Formats: sequence, C-alpha cells, structure tokens
Amino acid sequence: MHLLSVATSVLRALLVSLIIAQIAIAEEAPSANLPKAQYTERGVESCTGCHQNPSVTVILQTPHAQQADPRTPFAAHGCESCHGPGTEHLKSPRKETIPVRFGPHSPTSVAEQNQVCLNCHEGGERINWQGSSHQFADVACAACHQIHAWQDKVQIKASQPEVCYDCHGPQRAQVRRFSHHPIEEGKVACSDCHNPHGSFGPKLLLKATVNETCYLCHPEKRGPFLWEHAPVREDCRHCHAPHGTTQPRLLKVRTPWLCQQCHMEAFHPSTLYSGTGVPPRGVADRLLLKGCLNCHAQVHGSNHPSGVRLMR
Ligand code: HEC
Ligand code: HEC
Ligand code: HEC
Ligand code: HEC
Ligand code: HEC
Ligand code: HEC
Ligand code: HEC
Ligand code: HEC
Ligand code: HEC
Ligand code: HEC
Repeated sequence: MHLLSVATSVLRALLVSLIIAQIAIAEEAPSANLPKAQYTERGVESCTGCHQNPSVTVILQTPHAQQADPRTPFAAHGCESCHGPGTEHLKSPRKETIPVRFGPHSPTSVAEQNQVCLNCHEGGERINWQGSSHQFADVACAACHQIHAWQDKVQIKASQPEVCYDCHGPQRAQVRRFSHHPIEEGKVACSDCHNPHGSFGPKLLLKATVNETCYLCHPEKRGPFLWEHAPVREDCRHCHAPHGTTQPRLLKVRTPWLCQQCHMEAFHPSTLYSGTGVPPRGVADRLLLKGCLNCHAQVHGSNHPSGVRLMR
C-alpha cells in the first residue's frame, strides 16, 4: 500500500513538471512583441478565411503542409508555427499584430526570423550555419528561400544562379565570360561547389580546400602521379579561375605567359617569350599553337615512367 502511494506521488510530481516544462516551451515561442497572443484554436482555417490570395495559400501544396508528417509546421500550429501565435492578430487584423514577419521590410530581426526555421532545420547541411559568412552578414533564410511558392527557385539548378546574383553581381559577370563552368547552361549549380549554409572550408566551399572541391567532379586530377606538378597539387587557382575567364579552359592567362609566371629559366632557351615570336615574323616553336603544352602536355602530372618533364 505504502509503496504504491509513493509511486503515484512520484508519478504525479513527474507529470506536473512535464506540464510546467511544456508551458515553458510554449512561452518561448516567438511572441516577442506581443506577449498576450496565443495560438488560435482553429489553426489554418482561422487564417485562410482572410488570406485567400493564391500567392499565400500555395503553401498548402508544398512539403511544409504534409500534415501526415508530424515534423511539419502544419502538423502543429499551421501558419502560426512560423508566424507566431495569432489571437491578437484575429482581434486586430493589421500587419503590426503579427508576431513574426518575414522578408526584407520586416520589423522582426533577421536572427529571430531565422531562429524560427532553425528550430526545425538546425542539423544536416546547416550544421555550420552559425558563424558562416551568410549568418554573419545577417542574410535571412527567406532571402534565398521562397516558402509561399510552387517551387523554391534556389533549389532548382537552372534558376538558382539568379537568386545568388541578386547579391553577387561580380559572379554573374564572371560566369558569362567566354570560358566558364556550364552554370548558365543549367548543368552546374553554385551549390555544387558552395554550401550557402556554411562549411568547414574557405569561401563556403563544400570541401575543406579548393582542390578537394574540384576533385569532386575532376577526380582524375587528384592523381596519384608518378611525376607531380607542384602548383597543381597546391591550388588549382594558380592557373584556373573557377567561375569564368577570357582564356580557353578557364585559364587565367594564356601559355606561354601562364607558365612563365613561374618558369623564367628552363634548360631550353631561357628566353622570355613575348608576342614578337608569333608568325608571320620569326616563328618560335615554343609559342605556336598550344605553346609550352606542345611538348609538356601532361601539365597536371604524369604517370609515364619517363614523364619527368610532364611531356607524356
Ligand atoms: C480578419 C481577417 C484576417 C485574419 C483572420 C487573419 N489575417 Fe493576417 N492580415 C490581415 C490584414 C488585413 C493584414 C494587413 C495586410 C496589409 O497591411 O497589407 C494581415 C497581415 C498579415 C501578415 C503580414 C503580411 C506582411 O506583409 O508581412 C501575416 C504574416 C498574416 N497576416 C498572417 C496571418 C495568420 C498566420 C493568420 C491566422 C492566425 C491571419 N493572418 C489571420 C487580415 C487577417
Ligand atoms: C514554414 C514557415 C511558414 C509557414 C508555415 C507559413 N508562412 Fe507565411 N511566410 C513565410 C515566409 C518565409 C514569408 C516571406 C515570403 C516568402 O518567403 O514566400 C511569408 C509571408 C507571408 C505573408 C506575406 C506575403 C505577402 O505576399 O505579402 C502572409 C500574408 C503569410 N505569409 C501568411 C501565411 C498564412 C496565412 C499561412 C498559413 C496558411 C502561412 N503564412 C504559413 C513563412 C511561413
Ligand atoms: C515546424 C517545423 C518546421 C519549420 C518551423 C520550418 N520547416 Fe522547413 N521543413 C520542415 C519539414 C518537416 C520539411 C520536409 C522535410 C522533408 O521532406 O524531408 C521541410 C522542408 C523544407 C525545405 C525543403 C522543401 C522542398 O521544397 O523540398 C526547405 C527549403 C525549408 N523547409 C525551409 C524552411 C525555412 C526557410 C523555414 C523558415 C521560414 C522553415 N523551413 C520552417 C519543417 C519545418
Ligand atoms: C544564400 C542562399 C541560402 C540561404 C541564406 C539559406 N539557404 Fe537553404 N538552401 C539553399 C540552396 C542553394 C539549397 C539547395 C542545396 C542543394 O541542392 O544542395 C538549400 C536547401 C535547403 C533545404 C533543403 C535541403 C536540406 O538540407 O534538407 C533546407 C531545409 C534549407 N535550405 C533550409 C535553410 C534554412 C533553415 C536557412 C536559414 C538558416 C537557409 N536554408 C538559408 C540556399 C540558401
Ligand atoms: C541577400 C543577399 C545574398 C544572397 C541572395 C546570396 N548571398 Fe552570398 N553573400 C552575401 C553577403 C552579404 C556575403 C558576405 C559579404 C561578402 O563577402 O560579400 C556573402 C558571401 C558569400 C560567399 C563568400 C564567402 C566568404 O567566406 O567570403 C559565397 C561563396 C557566397 N556568398 C555564395 C552565395 C551563393 C552560392 C548564393 C546563392 C545560393 C548566395 N551567396 C546568395 C549575400 C547574399
Ligand atoms: C566549380 C566550382 C564553383 C562554382 C560552380 C561556383 N563557385 Fe563560387 N567559388 C569557387 C571557388 C573555388 C572560390 C574561391 C575562389 C577565389 O578565391 O577566387 C569561389 C568564390 C566565390 C565567392 C567569393 C569571392 C571572393 O572574392 O571572396 C563568391 C561570392 C562566389 N564564389 C559565388 C558563387 C556563385 C554566386 C556561384 C553560382 C553562380 C558560384 N560561386 C559558383 C568555386 C565555384
Ligand atoms: C559539380 C561538378 C564540378 C566541380 C565541383 C568542378 N567542376 Fe570543373 N567542370 C565541370 C563540368 C560539368 C565541366 C564542363 C565539361 C565539359 O564541358 O565537357 C567542367 C569543366 C572544367 C574545365 C574545362 C573548361 C573548358 O572550357 O573546357 C576546367 C579547367 C575546370 N572544370 C576546372 C575546375 C576547377 C579548377 C574546379 C574547382 C575549383 C572545378 N572545375 C570544379 C564540373 C565541375
Ligand atoms: C600549372 C597550371 C595548372 C594548374 C595548377 C592546374 N591546371 Fe588544369 N589546365 C591547365 C592547362 C594549361 C590546361 C589546358 C590543357 C589543354 O588545353 O590541353 C588545363 C586544363 C584543365 C581541364 C580541362 C582539360 C582536361 O584536362 O580535362 C580541367 C578539367 C582542369 N584543367 C582541371 C584542373 C584542376 C581540377 C586543377 C587542380 C587540381 C588544375 N586543373 C590545376 C593548367 C593547370
Ligand atoms: C605557380 C607556379 C607555376 C606555374 C604557373 C607553372 N609551373 Fe611548372 N613547376 C612549378 C614548380 C614549383 C615546379 C617544380 C620545380 C622543381 O621541382 O624544381 C614545376 C615543374 C615543372 C616541370 C618539371 C620540371 C622538372 O624539373 O621536372 C615542367 C616541365 C613544368 N613545370 C612545366 C610547366 C608548364 C608547361 C607550365 C604552364 C602550363 C607550368 N609549368 C606552370 C611551378 C609552376
Ligand atoms: C619543342 C618542345 C618544347 C617546348 C615547346 C617547351 N619545352 Fe620545356 N622542355 C623540353 C624538353 C625536351 C625538356 C627536357 C630537357 C632535358 O631534360 O634535357 C624541357 C624541359 C623543361 C623544364 C624542366 C627543366 C628545367 O629547367 O627545370 C621546364 C620547367 C620547361 N621545360 C618549361 C617549359 C616552358 C615554360 C615552356 C613554354 C615557354 C616550354 N618548356 C616549352 C621541350 C619543350
């Protein structure tokens, strides 16, 4: 008997503390400027009565509205899971009474807006969000993502660059140069090299270094090579620029000048080649066609037993 009553009182205490904990969680919900507001009882329907514009209700056709999935906003408080408790807004339907508003003109701070999303999306690809250059520069999740839309432009290869160019004009110009990664063509996306949510590497790159990122799609350049070429091992950017250049093959400079940036003196004539050796004037064999590459064709490294000069 005695044991049983102890057990029930322990259980009751547990239950009470659970309820208190839940109330605490509910109170932490984004009710920032309106402490009085509570979640409405009719959920989504209390909002869609007025907000009938298809540009708003389209959200009901997106993955966020899969009510059968208990992790989605619509399995919980519906619209209010993101926009905050709505009773005050129902009493006084004005912009100002909505606890959380999104977009560039919102009075809700970017950090608060993002916290709403991070509550459900903190892990995975966003593991490095905190401290990333986008987080640091106060870029909102909603600056890239469209939540009330059929399709989220930024997640589709073909339309993603336009979203990024809004803030990254110089990259738009680079990608449109004659030699470029097929980004405009929709074959490579910015997010094939960058993780816009943050990364361990520099410049939001997917991998820890530039080269590791390039090897994702150009694994043959990783080697191993019997005869390595030092600058290739070190950083592809010695010779290439990733977004686009005005020379073939994404090269920053044309040969022989590219090579001569480092090789001033070779066994063969240690002349510094200039434009004057180009036909029809004197013909220098080391300048014709592919220049140094005529002989040193394996510029990324060679596996031929006698490939020591990167010639085969
Ligand atoms: C009685 C009609 C009515 C109901 C019901 C209603 N709203 Fe509103 N809502 C409005 C009006 C009016 C505005 C102000 C629109 C404006 O100023 O352009 C507004 C503004 C908003 C905004 C701000 C839009 C912006 O420009 O940032 C959001 C978000 C919003 N409502 C969400 C909700 C949610 C969530 C619910 C359900 C809890 C809801 N509304 C229920 C009438 C209503
Ligand atoms: C997953 C979070 C989320 C949910 C759930 C959500 N919204 Fe929004 N809402 C946003 C974001 C983010 C924006 C900013 C515009 C955008 O990204 O599409 C926004 C914008 C709005 C706007 C202003 C749009 C405009 O064109 O002026 C209204 C009104 C609105 N939401 C109402 C609602 C209603 C009503 C519901 C429920 C049917 C709802 N929201 C559910 C995140 C959400
Ligand atoms: C209550 C939890 C919750 C909140 C709050 C929430 N999401 Fe989601 N979100 C989900 C779930 C669950 C999915 C579906 C995931 C899946 O299918 O694997 C999802 C899917 C997504 C997707 C992928 C959808 C697609 O079209 O493939 C994006 C992008 C996204 N959310 C962004 C946001 C942003 C931005 C916000 C804040 C404005 C936000 N979410 C707020 C739970 C949430
Ligand atoms: C600079 C633009 C940008 C910002 C800011 C951004 N995202 Fe994304 N997000 C993307 C891109 C691009 C993808 C598609 C990535 C891919 O295909 O690998 C994506 C994909 C997603 C997905 C779906 C894929 C997955 O990981 O499940 C979710 C969820 C998501 N983002 C949530 C967020 C949240 C939450 C924030 C704010 C903390 C945020 N994003 C901020 C660009 C952005
Ligand atoms: C709303 C504006 C905005 C959008 C949209 C945006 N960015 Fe950014 N981005 C910034 C700001 C601000 C910075 C930090 C300041 C800077 O270095 O220019 C930044 C920095 C970066 C950096 C450099 C990181 C570093 O450490 O130097 C990369 C890479 C980047 N963004 C990629 C992207 C990609 C990819 C997209 C599209 C998926 C995108 N951004 C969309 C605003 C934006
Ligand atoms: C093939 C891989 C690749 C693709 C695709 C790519 N980038 Fe980059 N991006 C890089 C590398 C590598 C760097 C570091 C380059 C450097 O320091 O010059 C970089 C640097 C950046 C920077 C920082 C520049 C600076 O000077 O700090 C921004 C911003 C950026 N990229 C945006 C984008 C955008 C926007 C797209 C899509 C239109 C994109 N990138 C596509 C590889 C890529
Ligand atoms: C997401 C995959 C991907 C990544 C990552 C990637 N590339 Fe590429 N790269 C491609 C594709 C696709 C092409 C075009 C191939 C074609 O047209 O046959 C290409 C072509 C090239 C070319 C030849 C361009 C030409 O005009 O023929 C060079 C040089 C190049 N990449 C260098 C790099 C460097 C340097 C990096 C790292 C900063 C890198 N790539 C990362 C996919 C990638
Ligand atoms: C020393 C300068 C140099 C460095 C460093 C370098 N490349 Fe190249 N790369 C070249 C030259 C020169 C060509 C043009 C070859 C030709 O036209 O035959 C080229 C062509 C390419 C091509 C297209 C043709 C092919 O061989 O597939 C790819 C892809 C490429 N490089 C990737 C890379 C990657 C990835 C790195 C870094 C691991 C890198 N390069 C580092 C000089 C360099
Ligand atoms: C960023 C500097 C840099 C650039 C640009 C560069 N190289 Fe090199 N190259 C080196 C270094 C460093 C070595 C290693 C020298 C050593 O081991 O003594 C080397 C080695 C070589 C070797 C082998 C030398 C030997 O002794 O075996 C050849 C051949 C060569 N480079 C050709 C080229 C060609 C052709 C180009 C242009 C496509 C080029 N390099 C561009 C830095 C560069
Ligand atoms: C007509 C063929 C040919 C052309 C073109 C050529 N080379 Fe060479 N290069 C050679 C040969 C052969 C050797 C090896 C000489 C030896 O081992 O005795 C060599 C050796 C080298 C070496 C290694 C020797 C040293 O001094 O460390 C470098 C570096 C080099 N070349 C750079 C270049 C550069 C840079 C260019 C373009 C300006 C170039 N080569 C154009 C044939 C050529």
